[in-house]
Amino acid sequence: MLEQIASQTHEAVYRVDRPDLGVTFFVALHSTRLGPAFGGARMWRYETEGEALSDALRLSEGMTYKNAMAELDVGGGKSVLWLREPGKASRAAIFTAFGDILEALGGRYISAEDVGTSVADMQIVRERTRHIAGLPPAEGRAGGDPSPWTALGVFCAMQAVLDDAGQSWRGVKVAVQGLGAVGGRLCGLLAHAGADLTVSDVSGDRAMDIAERYGAVMVDPSQILQASVDILAPCALGGILDPRTIPDLKARYVVGAANNQLATPDDGDQLARNGVLYVPDYVANAGGIICAVEEFRGGDADRVEAKVRVIGPRVGQILRDAREQDTPPFRIAQQKVDAILKAPALVGA
Ligand code: NAI
Repeated sequence: MLEQIASQTHEAVYRVDRPDLGVTFFVALHSTRLGPAFGGARMWRYETEGEALSDALRLSEGMTYKNAMAELDVGGGKSVLWLREPGKASRAAIFTAFGDILEALGGRYISAEDVGTSVADMQIVRERTRHIAGLPPAEGRAGGDPSPWTALGVFCAMQAVLDDAGQSWRGVKVAVQGLGAVGGRLCGLLAHAGADLTVSDVSGDRAMDIAERYGAVMVDPSQILQASVDILAPCALGGILDPRTIPDLKARYVVGAANNQLATPDDGDQLARNGVLYVPDYVANAGGIICAVEEFRGGDADRVEAKVRVIGPRVGQILRDAREQDTPPFRIAQQKVDAILKAPALVGA
């Protein structure tokens, strides 16, 4: 059932074609160096097979960094469910098939929900395998929608940036791009802290709702990256920081939830040259995976919260190291992850 695709960069990449469901599944295991590969399942309508596969490869590599940096004893993986013929099969049929794939992998990879998949989908998967997280929380246990934890982690990262600059929240202007599960909740935390919000979403209704609820200024999606603010919080799409957008940024700090915000590492260097402090996305947005891993290990919500709040001091340390070494924070974070991944394995740990 599992067709293995050769890879120079990943431990294993699998493809399962199911024309009967109108779906091709890709499972990319980037690294199991620190434990079983852990990362969500994204369902999306890609134009080509190459796009679907490269998303799985890129995202699973990102999970290795995110999980290592969050000090989780898991590796990095991701699955992509390429919806080739939407509506051909029910979600029940698609996620039953996905459950069988996870079972066949025997626990080398553990999945959870991501863009395009939900808690309800994961419940279907659970009927076929136990190698799954993102399920409704059992009594006293962590679990369910990870987005509130992702939002809290991003907020803690912003707090660290302000603490580092010796600034309070009073009068701090924040632009939030994307007001979905994470961005919407982040706005609530920011409004409560006293920030002035500028918000945008391609869904005008969603933007209007958040703007009314938190007294935010609403701008067109084409204007949000250039907003005159202190902090820009990308919470919609990846790849938004590139040579076309960077020259127009007015924010001094970029701290958000979206995965892979830098189009290329060169863009991170350019931000630093422009005096923009970019907190690496995978450091700030680890709250959701912390929740999923704790759920899988049987932890409770207090344990999740304690681990998510460590994102603040972790960002603070990266900023201090960046200053001391005169190196952009994203490069410091990369060095730290490389050191974690190269450290000798703890036998029997
Ligand atoms: P979501 O799908 O609930 O929300 C995304 C929002 O962005 C939607 O409201 C959408 O209309 C809006 N959007 C799309 N394109 C836009 C544009 N060009 N301008 C303005 N708004 C736009 O997704 P969610 O869960 O809130 O995640 C947001 C980002 O954070 C994604 O990139 C996701 O991969 C990442 N992330 C999410 C985690 C989670 O726990 N949900 C964990 C780690 C990363």
